[in-house]
Amino acid sequence: MPGITLGDTVPNLEVETTHKNFKLHDYFADSWTVLFSHPGDFTPVCTTELGAMGKYAHEFEQRGVKLLGLSCDDIQTHKDWIPDIEAFTPGSKVTYPIIADPNKEIIPQLNMIDPIENGPSRALHIVGPDCKIKLSFLYPSTTGRNMDEVLRALDSLLMAAKHKNKIATPVNWKPDEPVVISPAVSDEEAKKLFPQGFKTAELPSKKGYLRVADVS
Ligand code: BEZ
Repeated sequence: MPGITLGDTVPNLEVETTHKNFKLHDYFADSWTVLFSHPGDFTPVCTTELGAMGKYAHEFEQRGVKLLGLSCDDIQTHKDWIPDIEAFTPGSKVTYPIIADPNKEIIPQLNMIDPIENGPSRALHIVGPDCKIKLSFLYPSTTGRNMDEVLRALDSLLMAAKHKNKIATPVNWKPDEPVVISPAVSDEEAKKLFPQGFKTAELPSKKGYLRVADVS
């Protein structure tokens, strides 16, 4: 995936959106943002994805996280498309801004390109309040994303950030489930960080690296 990736600062582009024009860093300031791209308006998969984002909007809002879409068409086409999006997904409201990129000039700068097609992808960056990319998905245009997974991955990032990356989340983790303690944390430090205790898995290697803590 050439271009900006995990840990990189998203360029502070001036963007035109369905709400107003702004610089990306002004939008990202002081909160986490889910920035997601779409190949084009009035296309079937994109219509379902933007509808799902509208339906999940309250989940992101509850977490203090902003949404920011991008589709490779102009503002008027975006505005004409929104009634279709909301009609197809009952309960969906497209309350979030959608960036216009009719000339596909922004997607390369945000590394939202499908290198096989050399065209727009279904990319998604979760951006931290420091304007840096914390997680990226890159899907081809033929595969719609899973919004439950977007939310689950976001919850993992928020949980790790809350614990200063001293924890990580295991396979298929969901909020309220136990987390694992980072290998960089010694048992002594873990005892201080997790006074409620933690369990070390007994494994054939006898190496005590898999430590589970309940932080809910
Ligand atoms: C779609 O959103 O359905 C779509 C867009 C571009 C290529 C293929 C599918």
